[in-house]
Amino acid sequence: MMPRAADFKRATRAAAMAMITAMLAGCTETHFPLDTLSPKSDLTRAILDLFKEITILDSIVLLVVIGAMIGAIFIYSSREGDPGEPSATHSDVTLEMLWTVIPAIILIAITVPTVHTIIRTQPDQWPADTLRVRVIAHQWWWEFRYPTLGVVTADEVHIPAGQPIHFEMVSEDVIHSFFMPSIGGKRDVVPGQENQITTTADTPGKYYGQCTEFCGASHANMRFRVFVDTPEAFKQWTAHQLEGPLKPAGGSAAAGAKIWADAPCAICHTIKGVSGFSKDYTFGFRGPDLTHFGSRTTLAGSIMDNTPANVALWITNPDAVKPGANMPTLGLRGQQLSDLVAYLESLK
Ligand code: CUA
Repeated sequence: MMPRAADFKRATRAAAMAMITAMLAGCTETHFPLDTLSPKSDLTRAILDLFKEITILDSIVLLVVIGAMIGAIFIYSSREGDPGEPSATHSDVTLEMLWTVIPAIILIAITVPTVHTIIRTQPDQWPADTLRVRVIAHQWWWEFRYPTLGVVTADEVHIPAGQPIHFEMVSEDVIHSFFMPSIGGKRDVVPGQENQITTTADTPGKYYGQCTEFCGASHANMRFRVFVDTPEAFKQWTAHQLEGPLKPAGGSAAAGAKIWADAPCAICHTIKGVSGFSKDYTFGFRGPDLTHFGSRTTLAGSIMDNTPANVALWITNPDAVKPGANMPTLGLRGQQLSDLVAYLESLK
């Protein structure tokens, strides 16, 4: 029996509803962690407002142009009995003036607020309570230094809500791009040049970031997290970061500390009070500062969760996790490996 028209309509409607539900369900941070449409700072709100204004303006232009085009097709199409081809040389000065002047006005209406917003993202001066955060891009991880606080961390940057943050960006090697869509938009990070973003985050939470300039084999593995803390939580975080690392009381972590001391890890990584960072940037600098490694939620360019299993995987074969990684394979296995992992995870 053929389905009746009403059944078909009902089935179509149900299918459409299911599709829309599935699409909306897909709009989560897991699927779109780099959503540019959910601003959480003054800067990204200004960028989104600009985007909306221009989209509305463009839509009006599109409707007018399409409407005029369809109108012209119906009004000016040749009809049966019309005399031959119309003149191709006739011109209408008023019309030509109009279609020159109107687009010029539209372009000015787009340019002025756009340039205003661009300038706003990199002001020459900033409020006295602005916090400086130095962003140093490396193949393939992000280093964050707080010059006024003395804190150094990697791949996860903490900032307080409600306080202007001045990100000063430099690169250690090639051109990268610092992209944190909810907090600060995007800016290229170029060797030999300092770029900046100044922004005030307003909503505490965890946000995602990613390098967006192709920078080598693991470009896609160069991610980071932005934690916007309440001012109190940020104060606590800072105080904790300034403390030395916890000394393992005993057991596997203490054994791991000995392995750390014997292994070549300290050539690239600093653990404050344990293995140093030389001021001439030759020692303890190539890799992330691990003083509070255990307190971070991710590792290896923020591509995986900070769990003992993942740390072991990373140490065992860095290149398999992050192709092209500068971290060498140390050949640690079995108990030695789990001791070293226990030590690193103890560095809360
Ligand atoms: Cu760094 Cu792409």
